[in-house]
Amino acid sequence: MTTPCTPLALLACLLGALCRPVHASARDLQQAGEYDLLAGMGAAPAIEEAPAAEAPSCQSQLNYSSVFMPPQAQFAFRLYANGTRNYTCQSATLSVGPAMALLTTTGAYSCHGFFVSPFVGYNICSDPATGQPVGKLTLDTTVPGAVFVAPAPDGNVDNEPWGRFKVAADGNLPPVNYLVRYNTTGGKRPEQCTAPRGEWVLVPFTAVLDYYICL
Ligand SMILES: *[C@@H]1O[C@H](CO)[C@@H](O)[C@H](O)[C@H]1NC(C)=O
Ligand SMILES: *[C@@H]1O[C@H](CO)[C@@H](O)[C@H](O)[C@H]1NC(C)=O
Ligand SMILES: *[C@@H]1O[C@H](CO)[C@@H](O)[C@H](O)[C@H]1NC(C)=O
Ligand SMILES: *[C@@H]1O[C@H](CO)[C@@H](O)[C@H](O)[C@H]1NC(C)=O
Repeated sequence: MTTPCTPLALLACLLGALCRPVHASARDLQQAGEYDLLAGMGAAPAIEEAPAAEAPSCQSQLNYSSVFMPPQAQFAFRLYANGTRNYTCQSATLSVGPAMALLTTTGAYSCHGFFVSPFVGYNICSDPATGQPVGKLTLDTTVPGAVFVAPAPDGNVDNEPWGRFKVAADGNLPPVNYLVRYNTTGGKRPEQCTAPRGEWVLVPFTAVLDYYICL
């Protein structure tokens, strides 16, 4: 499947090679030098139905009242996450540190999710049918605007917030740049540490993770 070069977009296609296979792998695009763009770090022109210069960007259509994507976002794949949010008990007052997580996913890919620091998390994914590695999804929360969360709308305060996150994909994964986390159960940050200092408090959680490309 390719993004059509409509007459109006033709000039942009010729000038910027903006029309490319939607399902080109992240590696293809990384090699094309657009990896930063995919990571959501730059304002990208929209590519369909209007000259790029006048089309509102995905970024401009995101708002802070909904975690969900604007209509122009293209859904790529869905994962169902199941694991624990884990919180370190730190300091003399046993406050909890930043949320980390350990999770596995079912759905489009079998992934193993973990954090390598309080700010950077990875999902290492494989094909559920063959077990072959397909690539890595990266959430870097230090990227400006990478995190927007809102309380779970079901009103259950034990459920961790819903959220929209900027992500990047590599390997043979589709070139996604946004994740929407919703339908969360559990995972909420504990009020206080009940574990000794330096130990983990583990809170089981599940969530639906929808990945999108939106330029
Ligand atoms: C925010 O974005 C969502 C998703 O695109 C949309 O449904 C909602 O109407 C928007 N809200 C505002 C206030 O623009
Ligand atoms: C999550 O994983 C746990 C442990 O493997 C399992 O008992 C539970 O049924 C799973 N929950 C969901 C919703 O898949
Ligand atoms: C908590 O999460 C971190 C980062 O993902 C992981 O390294 C650590 O093993 C986890 N701790 C436990 C007890 O699961
Ligand atoms: C999310 O939750 C709603 C309400 O329970 C449910 O109708 C919907 O199927 C869920 N979505 C997914 C993808 O599981």
